[in-house]
Amino acid sequence: MRVLASIGMAAAAAILCTPASAQFAKPEDAIKYRQSALYVMAQQFGRLGAMAQGKAPYDANAAAENAELVQTMSHLPWPAFGPGTDKGRDTRAKPEIWADQAKFKEAQERLMNETSKLMVAAKAGNLDALKPAVQATGAACKNCHDQFRRD
Ligand code: HEC
Repeated sequence: MRVLASIGMAAAAAILCTPASAQFAKPEDAIKYRQSALYVMAQQFGRLGAMAQGKAPYDANAAAENAELVQTMSHLPWPAFGPGTDKGRDTRAKPEIWADQAKFKEAQERLMNETSKLMVAAKAGNLDALKPAVQATGAACKNCHDQFRRD
């Protein structure tokens, strides 16, 4: 029993230490995963954008819920940009991602930092707090796309 438990622990540790890229069987799975995550994040973020721009009625509860989803989603795409996932399926990812990993990581962190602030702002329950946070988050999207995404 004790042996089994330690094998279990070792297996769990091995899983935790496995490089993120190894979570995908094939590069095309990783590409599909990151595109899907980015797509869903953009859909949720778009609802906040519409409220911030007055194109949709402001709804504090919906805003808080959307911001929470955007914050969660903003963590998901990045492990799916592992080595070897520059091709295998249609992708707009630029080679610069793999050539300058530090800069790419910085752009991810900027987004995750902004989406955390976005969540706090959305939970404040007023449109005036939401607007600048939406803008700052949008700027973090653009900052990365300008450098790392093909048109
Ligand atoms: C750290 C870099 C980075 C950040 C930050 C980022 N993106 Fe992207 N985004 C990419 C890259 C790279 C692709 C291309 C992925 C591919 O095709 O493999 C992409 C693709 C997309 C796509 C297309 C997904 C599809 O259907 O193929 C959408 C939509 C998108 N991003 C929206 C956003 C939004 C909205 C934000 C901010 C809330 C954001 N992105 C932040 C790098 C980023």
